[in-house]
Amino acid sequence: MAEYEYETHEYDVVVVGAGGAGLRATLGMAEQGLRTACVTKVFPTRSHTVAAQGGIAASLSNMGPDTWQWHMYDTVKGSDWLGDTDAMEYLAREAPKAVYELEHYGVPFSRTEEGKIYQRPFGGHTTEFGEGPAVQRTCAAADRTGHAILHTLYGQSLKNNAEFYIEYFALDLLMSDDGKCEGVLCWKLDDGTMHVFSAKMVVLATGGYGRAYFSATSAHTCTGDGGGMVARAGLPLQDMEFVQFHPTGIYGSGCLITEGARGEGGYLTNSEGERFMERYAPQYKDLAPRDYVSRSMTMEIREGRGVGEHGDHIHLNLSHLPSEALAERLPGISESARIFAGVDVTKEPIPVLPTVHYNMGGIPTNYVGEVLNPTSRSPNRVVPGLMAVGEAGCASVHGANRLGSNSLIDLVVFGRAAAIRAGEIVDPNSAVPTPDKKAIDKAFDRFDNLRHADGGTPTADLRLEMQRTMQEDAAVFRTDKTLADGVKKMTAIAGKLDDLKVTDRSLVWNSDLMETLELTNLMPNALATIVGAEARKESRGAHASEDYAARDDKEWRKHTIAKVKGKKVTLSYRPVILDPLTKEDQGGIALKKIAPKARTF
Ligand code: FUM
Repeated sequence: MAEYEYETHEYDVVVVGAGGAGLRATLGMAEQGLRTACVTKVFPTRSHTVAAQGGIAASLSNMGPDTWQWHMYDTVKGSDWLGDTDAMEYLAREAPKAVYELEHYGVPFSRTEEGKIYQRPFGGHTTEFGEGPAVQRTCAAADRTGHAILHTLYGQSLKNNAEFYIEYFALDLLMSDDGKCEGVLCWKLDDGTMHVFSAKMVVLATGGYGRAYFSATSAHTCTGDGGGMVARAGLPLQDMEFVQFHPTGIYGSGCLITEGARGEGGYLTNSEGERFMERYAPQYKDLAPRDYVSRSMTMEIREGRGVGEHGDHIHLNLSHLPSEALAERLPGISESARIFAGVDVTKEPIPVLPTVHYNMGGIPTNYVGEVLNPTSRSPNRVVPGLMAVGEAGCASVHGANRLGSNSLIDLVVFGRAAAIRAGEIVDPNSAVPTPDKKAIDKAFDRFDNLRHADGGTPTADLRLEMQRTMQEDAAVFRTDKTLADGVKKMTAIAGKLDDLKVTDRSLVWNSDLMETLELTNLMPNALATIVGAEARKESRGAHASEDYAARDDKEWRKHTIAKVKGKKVTLSYRPVILDPLTKEDQGGIALKKIAPKARTF
């Protein structure tokens, strides 16, 4: 057994991760007087939320009529009827409140002439329950909205005495024998010390796992650490087959060009200079949801109408927009286009390609952030002491496809909801649990085995194999064959975790070991994705099967639940929650309004 000394820390709440969701949860907990720690592997304002550009959706009606019911309808339709109705209502209804709170905390939103928060159009956001024109619902701070939110929430959390443990890498959850989460074991990266955080509530806000793919808009830190810890604790992941490709990653680098660029009037063209989205989505054109636009772009390229020397990408045109508008509303992407594509957006189109951007799936939770461990008898069974929020979690508010700008609002609405719930169930006067020594020893053994791994496969090689396989076999379009091949390849790749080679055995700033630990987190996420995709015999949202072109609500309107143990994935299913929180006669949405139908734009 590995022997490591460790320091202990006791808190009411420990939040793991300091992106938008982690910081909003941290702030909400601390504001209520709960003793709150936030442990994070990167400095808070370097978390991936900093890269969120276009904005945050809320029906403020600053630019024209809007209602939360229209926002909810769009979210339901965007999800291709896989989202949980209670969570989708909660998101749309609480969104305006959550955005005004951000404003009052100090987020420097862009402003209209009258001084209201500026809102821009984004894909899939409409009026009149999808019958009216596109709505301007996405509240923006130029094209640096995530950056503005993150800095504000960090400052506010400090002001409210939340304690930050920065550059601490969370290794494993500390679970009791009877399935309660009692804390988390962390490795302090800059001095090699070990830390046991005991808490009455652990909140996973660890972000997505975009780096399971070769080309992603996600930061290199997006390695699904929460999903990895949950899988090792014997808990499930949900709806992992739904991976969002953002239509406009810069060709080559994958760097994000915000959907706000199309919201401000940008449009896509093929090699014939045609605005092809008019054919695929006659009503909303370039402002159709992302799954739709990404598929349309892929079809144009496949049919020989891609641009560039190899005909393998698409053009995003902004040069017709006034240069003052570009400078005021889209300064960040103008700079990214110059640096990463060598393009002056006032004169030339940006070369773009659908690029992995977001994971709709994650750790299953209810709409107040409590982690679920469903059984067939008890599909909404809660794991005591454990919450998950943000991209790490799956509430499930985005179902099979997320609408642009519904991510930032998800982070703050559900970060806030988790804090409200913790305020109800965490007793500040009760004793902090003492984590089971067996759980601590087990986590140290795993860490030590990886630290001394002496096989034949370097971490970087295995990671690349995984990324290329996921990119090739779990892509925008999928077939039975690519998925079956992918499952076979990924099972073999996961098997090679037993043959890893780590060359640096030190404990201080050991990036070799940290990347190895991250790879062990990416792997269960990737496996659950491809196995869940292979099993789902329909097309829904971001899961587009060429063998089963239609959505099959009778058989497949259900959540995939995946338990991953080593290289083996076991699937089961959980019903979608169909009941809203508010009945129609109390001001809620009419059920017939959100009944499934063909999803056209
Ligand atoms: O396009 C964007 O600005 C990204 C927004 C989002 O993913 O919500």
